[in-house]
Amino acid sequence: MSVVTTNKLQNILEIISDSPPVNALGAAVRQGLVDGIEQALSDDEIEAVVIRCEGRTFFAGADITEFGKPPVGPNLGEAIDRMEASEKPVVAAIHGTALGGGCEVALACHYRVAVPSAKLGLPEVKLGLIPGAAGTQRLPRVVGAEAALPMVVIGNPISAKKAAAIGLVDKVVGEDSLADDAIAFARAQIGKPVPRSSAGNANQDGVKNPAIFDEFRAKNGRKLRGFDAPNAGIEAVKAAGEMSYEDGVAKERELFMKLMSGTQSAAMRHYFFAERAANKVDGVDPKIDLIPIKKVGVIGAGTMGGGISMNFLSAGIPVTILEMKQDALDRGVATIRKNYENTAKRGRMTAEQVEGAMGILTPSLHYDDLADCDLVIEAVFENMDVKKDVFGKLDEIVKPGAILASNTSYLNVDEIAAATKRPEYVLGMHFFSPANIMKLLEVVRGEKTADNVLVTAMKLSKKIGKVAAVSGVCDGFIGNRMLSPRQQQANAMLMEGANYWEVDDVLLDFGFPMGPFQMSDLAGIDIGWHRDETRIETMRDALCAKGRWGQKVGKGFYDYDESRQRVPSDEVKELIAEWGAKEGKEQRDISADEMRERMLYPMVNEGAMILEEGMAQRASDIDVVWINGYGWPLFTGGPMFWADTVGLDKVVAGLEKHGLPVCDLLRSKAAAGEKFNG
Ligand code: 3HC
Ligand code: NAI
Repeated sequence: MSVVTTNKLQNILEIISDSPPVNALGAAVRQGLVDGIEQALSDDEIEAVVIRCEGRTFFAGADITEFGKPPVGPNLGEAIDRMEASEKPVVAAIHGTALGGGCEVALACHYRVAVPSAKLGLPEVKLGLIPGAAGTQRLPRVVGAEAALPMVVIGNPISAKKAAAIGLVDKVVGEDSLADDAIAFARAQIGKPVPRSSAGNANQDGVKNPAIFDEFRAKNGRKLRGFDAPNAGIEAVKAAGEMSYEDGVAKERELFMKLMSGTQSAAMRHYFFAERAANKVDGVDPKIDLIPIKKVGVIGAGTMGGGISMNFLSAGIPVTILEMKQDALDRGVATIRKNYENTAKRGRMTAEQVEGAMGILTPSLHYDDLADCDLVIEAVFENMDVKKDVFGKLDEIVKPGAILASNTSYLNVDEIAAATKRPEYVLGMHFFSPANIMKLLEVVRGEKTADNVLVTAMKLSKKIGKVAAVSGVCDGFIGNRMLSPRQQQANAMLMEGANYWEVDDVLLDFGFPMGPFQMSDLAGIDIGWHRDETRIETMRDALCAKGRWGQKVGKGFYDYDESRQRVPSDEVKELIAEWGAKEGKEQRDISADEMRERMLYPMVNEGAMILEEGMAQRASDIDVVWINGYGWPLFTGGPMFWADTVGLDKVVAGLEKHGLPVCDLLRSKAAAGEKFNG
């Protein structure tokens, strides 16, 4: 059966797409739309058209799997131009998500009706693109340049209600009566002249006040740094006010094609599929019976425990949080409340939502209160004895069949599991700080972790808004393990004469939000320090002894002013020179290229070892970890994809030039001219 069918209801023709999972606008769907419109135009009995989709969503966009391949069938732009040209009113009936090309289909229709839960958006920018089927030209003509800018340039979808408020949706209809309401709406338009988005004039706001474009760029500068597509999006929306519709469409096409053939979009499309692949566990039936998670326990209300709890509370899952002492518990709970209240102050939560989340949080000092939890996550001190003690207690108390997880950063999850009589229910759930904000969740699969336990954790990650990847048990798992060689090289270069702010700047220029020494300052240089000011065995000891504990005390590697601006410190410069002299390393100028290669190539090598040892399921999982957990720039696709674009032979040559190790997998892939991804 065709993926697009038609249904004649007296004088109305319904064109219905049913192409699971998301009604992506692949060749067959585009052809079906063209045929449907032709049928409507050639049938004299038909006076209006409704376009809708079966399944979970309206068209979620162009079919991304077709990108980079030779075009097949009708082009989306031409297909939707025919809809708009129709004299018979065409109504888009929207549920789920009308995204990208899907939103462009809706824009080409004369009217848009949507259910309250529907979302509309142009997320192409997240794939390193701009809309390519006249979205940048029609949208501003309907809603104005100012309202179009965030949709095109940031790419977050908006609700049906917001879409109605800005004029993108004509009517919000019943959640359960979309098809009928759309038909009634279409009938009411018969005989009226059709409004065409391409002829709209809301775009004049940007002509009257052209400052909006620069203001938008300035306001979002930090978020957009390094990405090509956002600037192209701004240019296209601006063109919508300055040019005729036809010229604007040609301009959009030119910008779109340039982005489509560039590395950034290839990298971001790689990431789109990588994120979805990372959630899948090879060799396990995805339909395996999951463990229902209705109540969660969190042990430790410190930095991590509080943030971890917030993820579940925000998703409406009750949490019991456990501490050893009342004051620590009170402090932890107060921090959670403060964080929520700050979010509410910024308008991202209502006061009721804050109370709703706090209302399902139960503070406790007694392990017994965890007995009926379906999942308990331990976030106590990073110490094996303490963790074993906690897991021993949990094993005694928590009901059988519940999952016991550790948030350990480095410790051996198998050893922790061995402290229980149910190692198959134990795994690592490694959140990143701040745990309520950072997207990454490394799910650590122990030797004995049962498949359904692992898959439950992976599925749960989506529910709490995380992006998860599976790691095997190894020191630091995927993320921290790869951080280690980078830090080693950064430190070594200081001893050889590099300035630490230059080392940081190399990574900033690459697209990271911060460099290794800024990161140390932010995390706190004193973490794990022995706290004896007279015992100075490393440069870190020396910094700590001088009270340079990091940003929280206003000085670490850098001095910080009130607005937290970093300024290189003469004191630290001298300290580094002293330690450099002590190590007896020849002092020399180190180029930015060398710095970049010495920090990033060893990470690729470590990633290759992780793959070689089977600690990651696939190279793209490593990309997902580093993009979401450590700010590796998305537009490069992550460390392994980036290495592919550099060329693995070049990476190997670079490592050898700097006297750094090359593992067998990296060497053999380079020799065979292969890539990590594809
Ligand atoms: N093309 C091809 N496959 C797609 C797709 C698309 N546009 N959107 C989703 N899929 C696939 C996913 O890869 C996934 O496949 P899998 O099951 O084999 O892993 C499956 O559909 C389900 O997707 P999700 O797991 O993401 O399902 P969710 O329900 O969580 O999310 C969604 C649904 C919000 C629609 C989300 O999939 C999404 O954001 N999709 C991409 C939307 C997008 O970027 N559209 C713009 C495309 S570019 C474009 O339109 C250019 C145009 O201007 C010319
Ligand atoms: P923290 O020191 O801020 O909090 C630990 C809390 O656990 C303290 O409040 C302490 O009172 C409590 N605690 C200790 N033993 C306990 C017990 N037996 N029962 C109940 N409560 C107990 O530490 P943080 O930073 O939250 O780290 C916790 C875990 O998370 C560690 O394993 C750490 O390696 C890991 N982690 C830390 C990250 C970070 O950036 N801070 C990032 C990712 C993981």
